[in-house]
Amino acid sequence: MSNSAQSLEKEISRRRTFAIISHPDAGKTTLTERILHAGGAIQMAGNVRAKREQRRTRSDWMNIEKDRGISVVTSVMTFEYGGCIFNLLDTPGHEDFSEDTYRTLTAVDAAVMVIDAAKGIEARTRKLFEICRLRDIPIVTFINKMDRESQDAFDLLDEVASALALETTPLTWPVGRAAKFLGTYDLRKESMRLKEEVANNDERILQMQEEVELAKAGLPEFNLDDFNAGFLTPVFFGSAIKELGVTDLLDALAEFGPSPRNQDSQDRQVAANEPAMTALVFKIQANMDPNHRDRIAFARICSGRLERGMKLKHTRTGKTFALHTPQFFFARDRQLAEEAFAGDVVGIPNHGTLRIGDTLTEGEDLQFTGVPYFAPEILRRVNLKDAMKAKKLKQALTELAEEGVVQLFKPQDGSAPIVGVVGVLQLDVLQTRLKHEYGVEITFDSISYSQARWVQGEQNIIDRFINSNRSAIADDIDGDPVFLSTSDFMMQRTIDANKELSFHDIKQIG
Ligand code: G4P
Repeated sequence: MSNSAQSLEKEISRRRTFAIISHPDAGKTTLTERILHAGGAIQMAGNVRAKREQRRTRSDWMNIEKDRGISVVTSVMTFEYGGCIFNLLDTPGHEDFSEDTYRTLTAVDAAVMVIDAAKGIEARTRKLFEICRLRDIPIVTFINKMDRESQDAFDLLDEVASALALETTPLTWPVGRAAKFLGTYDLRKESMRLKEEVANNDERILQMQEEVELAKAGLPEFNLDDFNAGFLTPVFFGSAIKELGVTDLLDALAEFGPSPRNQDSQDRQVAANEPAMTALVFKIQANMDPNHRDRIAFARICSGRLERGMKLKHTRTGKTFALHTPQFFFARDRQLAEEAFAGDVVGIPNHGTLRIGDTLTEGEDLQFTGVPYFAPEILRRVNLKDAMKAKKLKQALTELAEEGVVQLFKPQDGSAPIVGVVGVLQLDVLQTRLKHEYGVEITFDSISYSQARWVQGEQNIIDRFINSNRSAIADDIDGDPVFLSTSDFMMQRTIDANKELSFHDIKQIG
């Protein structure tokens, strides 16, 4: 292997690109802060919360963030720890999740699942976990708030195992509980990390020893292949707020957290360590800086090395462009990226040419797969206040749908467009952005449809189905047919009555 191939391999294998998934209040923000602190990045970060405050004032539509106290924007935080470069992709932290959250999970190689030790698995954790499972993303579990009254540790492990159908292997064990929580015992290294020294015969040490024996006897051993395949989750206990157990977690991610995976494309699988650079756009963010009205495409580098100034092919259009200003984002701060490697995420400013799911290469005609659209769970008809602005609305809805803010469906019976979202927050974002960026005021009308499924099958059978269900068929942004239904029951009836067609709640782009 040549020197440059070796150094490329080395750079890529030390990337750790991950996200944190959790139910609101489980401690994601606190853990993020502590991770950044342990990773020495807090200087750069300032403070995640302070950043949140600052960015609330930045643009008009982000007033939604301020009003509702939530973060709408996904950011990337990069830091070095244990010889590895970590990219932590932050996802919006509110119960109202959006498609962005889901798609961000398609750009990571691993997820840390934070669970509140008193509450166990909660609804949103489960939902986000299911998204990770779709792509077999390895999950590391962090059981947080051990400094409070918590459920029994074995019960928590059982709950993860049964609720998520995952094998669980504790890699650390809590020493003491609640106010007497002292730190952790590392089952593999057989050493303790405690906040203070205690005698060997301290009751907390004795309890830990007894429980560790039980855990070793009753629970599966850690198996790296099972972890990488998404069958087994290593479990860590800790308290983010007391900064206990956080280093255990980071050390493990550095040691065995997956390095950038290979990425499927329509034609072949692209290995992360291939020398040619390839990248996949998984998110578009418009008007991050209202003074510039720019659009940033967030792209995950899937292989090779990106260099500022290089020529890239945009494979959907076949056009080539020079990459003058790739950017790294840190929370909301940006800086020019001179180079980046597979696993890293860069922002690429553009004027609407790049779309979610687009592939960039050094020349090869590739189309990556795996970025999904999710069947909307909320459907609304857009009601325009000023009829003179119909044309403007059409353009705005198309642009915002391309950006992934909402999904746009054009009913085949010619009635007004329908927007579909996964989280109701997306509707607020749409309404606010239409007003501030396009000067178009709208309201939403409820419609009887509550379900949408992409229809696939042989063309003549699809045509027949469409003809007999025309009022319930709409075209999505790519012109693919979607069947709309008023209830679960009706949807199931249609699915059962049309066995030669398939109905999908996820559409893979590409
Ligand atoms: P989130 O991003 O998942 O929504 O959770 P966040 O970190 O904001 O934490 C939610 C609450 O739980 C916060 O308290 C936070 O301080 C607390 N918390 C997080 N980790 C731990 C932990 O390990 N132990 C204990 N005891 N508490 C923890 P808050 O009162 O809602 O907010 P704040 O006033 O502290 O900001």
